[in-house]
Amino acid sequence: MTSKEIYYCEPVFRPPSEGNSLLIQLTEGCTFNCDFCMSNLRKKFIVRSIEEVKKDLDIGASKHYSSLVRKLFFLDGNAMVTPADRLIELTSYAMKIFPKLERIGVYAHAKDILKKSDKQLRALSDAGLKIAYVGFESGYDKLLKNVNKHATKVDFIDASKKLMKANITLSATFINGLGGGNNKEISKAHALESADLVNKICPDDDRIWYIAFLSLMTPPGTVMYEKKKRGEFKEMNSKEILLELKMFIESINFKNKEANCIFRSNHASNYLPIKGTLEKGKAKILETIDYGLDHKEFLRPEYYRAL
Ligand SMILES: C[S@@+](CC[C@H](N)C(=O)[O-])C[C@H]1O[C@@H](n2cnc3c(N)ncnc32)[C@H](O)[C@@H]1O
Ligand code: SF4
Repeated sequence: MTSKEIYYCEPVFRPPSEGNSLLIQLTEGCTFNCDFCMSNLRKKFIVRSIEEVKKDLDIGASKHYSSLVRKLFFLDGNAMVTPADRLIELTSYAMKIFPKLERIGVYAHAKDILKKSDKQLRALSDAGLKIAYVGFESGYDKLLKNVNKHATKVDFIDASKKLMKANITLSATFINGLGGGNNKEISKAHALESADLVNKICPDDDRIWYIAFLSLMTPPGTVMYEKKKRGEFKEMNSKEILLELKMFIESINFKNKEANCIFRSNHASNYLPIKGTLEKGKAKILETIDYGLDHKEFLRPEYYRAL
């Protein structure tokens, strides 16, 4: 008997903004192993076959809600690593069988983007892949190396420009507190280099792009958790986190004053939910951060923080 349910390899990883999207397992796990990340803890990396993924898409299309599907997300940690021809074929197929589908999204490591040609990225975009979620984590190369990110600030700049050229929306995430507590030098370099990275990728036009900050969590099983247990890593407190974020926002200075960079720091890992537009809404964001610094009672309690 063939299954009538879409296959998932739990736990799956998707951005919060894809919560209402149809999720389709294209890859399992991730080809990288960043020290803070859980994506690989219980999974061996694979790219599923075209036949298996099409079967899941067909199951999705046969469900009563299929005419309502407007967004689709190809799981898992870095589905952009999938060979371009396979990704284009599956993207086109999904766009064909879901009548109202507007966009398809993936997680992408910067290197997965850089390995694809401009022509392949344009073909992906034309087929329907319209958003890529890229983990920058920091613009500070020393810190990126420390956490085993396998990418540099220049990689992030080049990958962002390639995406924008192909008309694929960029949604990038940074990790507040990544360098640990009691270390003002690292925190300062993390904030300033990250802001410089964002300033450098700002496009000349008024397209929408996204920058989000999460706050570091140290889930069991990760390298970061083990380092913390051994006393080699100390987490930042909420005040240090907010001061680091404040320094980042203060250093945003776009040449294009009409830029539409949607800023979010409202993930469940954050102490203070913040939303705004950079750099137009900079003053308002800074006001919110100052309010959080003065009113500790408004911050999300430690036990409510989650990934
Ligand atoms: C599932 S990952 C996928 C990103 C993509 N693979 C990449 O590296 O470009 C999504 C993002 O969640 C964030 N993240 C993962 N683990 C985290 C942790 N322990 N604490 C805070 N943020 C975390 C990072 O910003 C990461 O890039
Ligand atoms: S952050 Fe991204 S690249 Fe790094 S292990 Fe997690 S999913 Fe993979």
